Amino acid sequence: MTGDAPRGLWITLEGGDGSGKTTQAAALEGWLRESGREVVRTREPGGSDVGQLIRDIVLHHRGDIAPRAEALLYAADRAHHVATVVRPALARGAVVVQDRYLDSSVAYQGAGRVLDAGEVRDLSLWAADGALPDLTVLLDLDPTAARQRLDADDKPFDRLEAEKSDFHERVRSAFLGLAEAEPDRFLVLDATRPPGDLSADIRARVGDALGAAPGR
Ligand code: TYD
Repeated sequence: MTGDAPRGLWITLEGGDGSGKTTQAAALEGWLRESGREVVRTREPGGSDVGQLIRDIVLHHRGDIAPRAEALLYAADRAHHVATVVRPALARGAVVVQDRYLDSSVAYQGAGRVLDAGEVRDLSLWAADGALPDLTVLLDLDPTAARQRLDADDKPFDRLEAEKSDFHERVRSAFLGLAEAEPDRFLVLDATRPPGDLSADIRARVGDALGAAPGR
C-alpha cells in the first residue's frame, strides 16, 4: 500500500458474482486467526457505517442510477472505508481480508460501456488517496457457470446480478485484463477448482507475503 509505511497486509478478493469470494475469504480468515494474527474481514461496498447506507443505495435502489452517480457512490464508499477501516487496521499490523475493491469498479462500472475504465480507476485512486492492496486474488469463473451457482441459491438477485450475460462477460475480461497489467499484485485462480485447493493456493501466497516482510 502506498502513501505510508503500514506493517499489516492487505488482501482483496475479486471476481464475478457467484465466483466463491466469500467462501475463500472466510477460509483465509480462519487460517490467519488460527495462526494468531489480527484479521479485519471487510468488504466494499458497505465495509463502514457510512458505507452500509451507500450499499443500500447502489444495490437496492429501485430504478436507474446515472452511471457517473453510481461510480461516485462506490468511490465515496471506498474513500470512507479506506480512511476509517483499512488504513487504521494496517497501521496497527492487522491483516485486512477484503471482499472487492477498486478493481470491481473498473470491471463493473467500466463494463457498462458508458464510462472510461481508466477514468473510473483514477477516480477510485483519488478517493482512496492512492492505496492499493498488497495482494489481489482473482477468482476467475465463466459467467454461465456463475449463473448456475447463483440460480441454485434462493436469494433474490441484486441490481448488478440481474444484468445481462454479455455484461458479465465484459466484467470477466476486464478483471483478466487488470490482472495481466499487474501480475505482481494479482493471483489469478480458476474458480471451478475444488474450494479446498483454491484455499491452499491462497494460503501459500499469503504465507509468502507474511514471511517476506519482517515485523508482519
Ligand atoms: P458483493 O456484495 O461482493 O456481491 P457478491 O457477493 O454478489 O459478489 O458486491 C455487490 C455488487 O456490487 C457486485 O455485483 C459488484 C458490484 N460492485 C460494483 O459494481 N462496483 C464496485 O466498485 C464494487 C465494490 C462492487
